[in-house]
Amino acid sequence: MRLKDKVAIVTGAGSGFGEGIAKRFALEGAKVVVNDVNAKGGERVTGEITAAGGQAVFAKGDVTRGPDWQAMVGKAESSFGRLDIVINNAGWTHRKKPFLEVTEAEFDQVYAVNVKSIYLSVMHALPVFRKQGGGCFVNVASTAGLRPRPGLSIYNSSKAAVILMSKSMAGEFGPDNVRINCVNPVFSPDTGLSAEFAGGTVTPETRKAYLSTIPLGRFSTPADVANACLYLASDEASMISGSCIEVDGARCV
Ligand SMILES: NC(=O)c1ccc[n+]([C@@H]2O[C@H](COP(=O)([O-])OP(=O)(O)OC[C@H]3O[C@@H](n4cnc5c(N)ncnc54)[C@H](O)[C@@H]3O)[C@@H](O)[C@H]2O)c1
Repeated sequence: MRLKDKVAIVTGAGSGFGEGIAKRFALEGAKVVVNDVNAKGGERVTGEITAAGGQAVFAKGDVTRGPDWQAMVGKAESSFGRLDIVINNAGWTHRKKPFLEVTEAEFDQVYAVNVKSIYLSVMHALPVFRKQGGGCFVNVASTAGLRPRPGLSIYNSSKAAVILMSKSMAGEFGPDNVRINCVNPVFSPDTGLSAEFAGGTVTPETRKAYLSTIPLGRFSTPADVANACLYLASDEASMISGSCIEVDGARCV
C-alpha cells in the first residue's frame, strides 16, 4: 500500500480522471476527501469507494471559492485528523471554437476553475502542511499547456499557467518540505470534457485525427493518470518537486 494512512483531497473526483485517482488512492490505503461541485457524481464515487472497503468522505464544493476550500481542508482534518496530499484535478473548458467567439464569461470560468483553484488550494492547505512538517500537491494540467491545439487557446494558456505556477511554487515552498508537481495527460475520449475538447462530439474522424498525433497509438485513461498521480504523491517521489509527468504516449516530443 503506497499511500497507507495518508489523507488526500481529490478535486473534481465525481467523474473522469478524478474518479480514477480517488479510487486508486483509496486502494493504496489513502483516506480520501472526494470533492466535486456535482453532488451526484461525488456521492456516487464516495459510496463506491466505501462499498469496496476504502475510506472516503464527500465534500461538495466549488474549487473557485475560498470558503469551499476552507470547508474541504476542514473536512480532511475533522474526518481523518490531518492532510498530506492535494490533487488539483477539477478542470473546465469552453467548447473548442475560434478565439474571437470565446465570451468573457467563458474566459473567466476557465481561469477560475483551472488556475485560481490552484492558488486557493495553496492558500488553504499550505498552513496545514507547514504545521505538519510537509505535504504535496499534484496539479492535473495538460499536454495542452505544452503542445497546444487550435481552438482552445484560453484553455491551453490556463494549463500553461498551472505548469509554471507549480514550478514556481515548488521553488518557494521547498524549504517547507512541500512538493508541487504536475501531471499532463493527453486527450482522453471518454471523460466529461472530451466532447468539449473535440468541438461538440467525439466522432470517429476526431478519434482518428487525435490518435494519429500520439506515437504510442492509444488515448490516455483515468488509470494512466491515476498511476502518475500515485507516484508523485507517494514517498517514492520524495525528491521530486517542480516536475511534470507527461502521460501522453510521446505526443509532446
Ligand atoms: N479529458 C481529457 O482529454 C483531458 C486531457 C488533459 C487534461 N485534462 C484535465 O483533466 C482534469 C479532469 O478532467 P476530465 O477530463 O476527467 O473531465 P470531467 O468533466 O470528467 O471531470 C471534471 C470534474 O470536475 C468537476 N468540476 C468542474 N468544475 C468544478 C468546480 N468549480 N469545483 C469542483 N469541481 C468541479 C466536474 O463536475 C467533473 O466531475 C481537468 O483538469 C482537465 O482539464 C483532461
